[in-house]
Amino acid sequence: MILLVTGGAGFIGSHFIRLVLENRPSYRLINLDKLTYSGNLENLADLAAHEAAKRYFFVEGDICDAGLVRSLFSGEHPLFDRHPELRYREAGSPISAVVHFAAESHVDRSIRDASAFFRTNAEGTRVLVESARIHWGIEPPASKSLYRFLHVSTDEVYGSLEPNDPLFREDSPLRPNSPYAASKAASDLTVLAYVHTYGLPAIVTRCGNNYGPNQHPEKFIPLFITNALEDRPLPLYGDGRQVRDWIYVVDHCRALLLILERGLAGEIYNIGAGEERANREVAELLVLTMNKSTDLIRSVRDRPGHDRRYALDVTRLKSALGWKPELSFAEGVKATVGWYQSHPEWWKRLKDQAFWAYYREVYGSV
Ligand code: NAD
Ligand code: TYD
Repeated sequence: MILLVTGGAGFIGSHFIRLVLENRPSYRLINLDKLTYSGNLENLADLAAHEAAKRYFFVEGDICDAGLVRSLFSGEHPLFDRHPELRYREAGSPISAVVHFAAESHVDRSIRDASAFFRTNAEGTRVLVESARIHWGIEPPASKSLYRFLHVSTDEVYGSLEPNDPLFREDSPLRPNSPYAASKAASDLTVLAYVHTYGLPAIVTRCGNNYGPNQHPEKFIPLFITNALEDRPLPLYGDGRQVRDWIYVVDHCRALLLILERGLAGEIYNIGAGEERANREVAELLVLTMNKSTDLIRSVRDRPGHDRRYALDVTRLKSALGWKPELSFAEGVKATVGWYQSHPEWWKRLKDQAFWAYYREVYGSV
């Protein structure tokens, strides 16, 4: 089994790669990543010392580069000449499955400039599914195929809930509000159109907010942890009563592996841990865990178009595949704070001049 993982140098993708290499000794894995500001090979540096490193192959490149993507699906990329062990099939594509993480992923950046979001998230996804359908030479129905294309998406495509609204289900309408969410909705609909039109054996997953080690410090939880560790203010948007459905990153990755191996082609799966928390509550828990003062929390001007609440119904994933999260929010936050406390070299390097220039643009003088 050869997996093509896109965006595997990012936060979630790197945890997924580690999970697969450590638990599936028969899988080989190619990571295609452009190494944007959020891609970081250090996220996988620990693998070098591991036996599993022999089953891991990195290709630096852009998912929008149709020639490059085609060469991976067709087996013509030079990687396959250098590593004959990647040519285990007599005919057809050497790639058995794709797990597609690569994306521009930060809402605040999409509000400043959405162009890279539509390029990578919408067009890049189209390039991938187009290559998959050509090289996998598939005929409908998708459910019969041995190939799999797992598209990793987000609950943000559903839009925003009011406090008493029912949870998002897989058949809830898509009402994306931010440019990021709109670009992800475009990618979801493209993948589903390829399922419908060509019988592409694809699955779409929509997960809630992830947190855990190796998340870029521009995102809420790592920003608040690393700022607090440096006794800097914690910029809480608006009234801080927006609610997110938080999941520990490894629990998300376990769900993805399960869905990849046992999910139904053509299906959509919500993934969430049911840990709904208001931002202010999360901020207070973080400072408490770090023995810092809540005075560090500062209310700042709200994000434009800020969604009030995301929350997911995960009945399908639980009942059909028997998944459940292993870590509670309290346990996950403790582990995450501990990781940032013990890895200052990882996050201090990312909070560089370019980061602070971005920070001043978004938050002003906070
Ligand atoms: P991330 O920003 O940490 O990582 C994205 C990775 O994609 C980086 O390694 C980057 O270099 C790579 N990349 C970006 N553009 C690329 C391109 N054109 N070609 C190749 N590689 C490219 O993001 P993340 O938080 O790990 O999210 C991964 C996926 O999960 C995304 O698709 C995101 O929409 C989805 N998701 C994220 C969350 C969350 O809370 N972080 C929740 C649900 C879904
Ligand atoms: P974020 O991590 O950007 O994820 P998303 O917007 O995709 O849900 O933000 C999570 C929540 O935290 C969201 O409601 C916005 C809020 N937030 C702040 O209050 N301050 C911040 O500095 C950031 C980055 C986010």
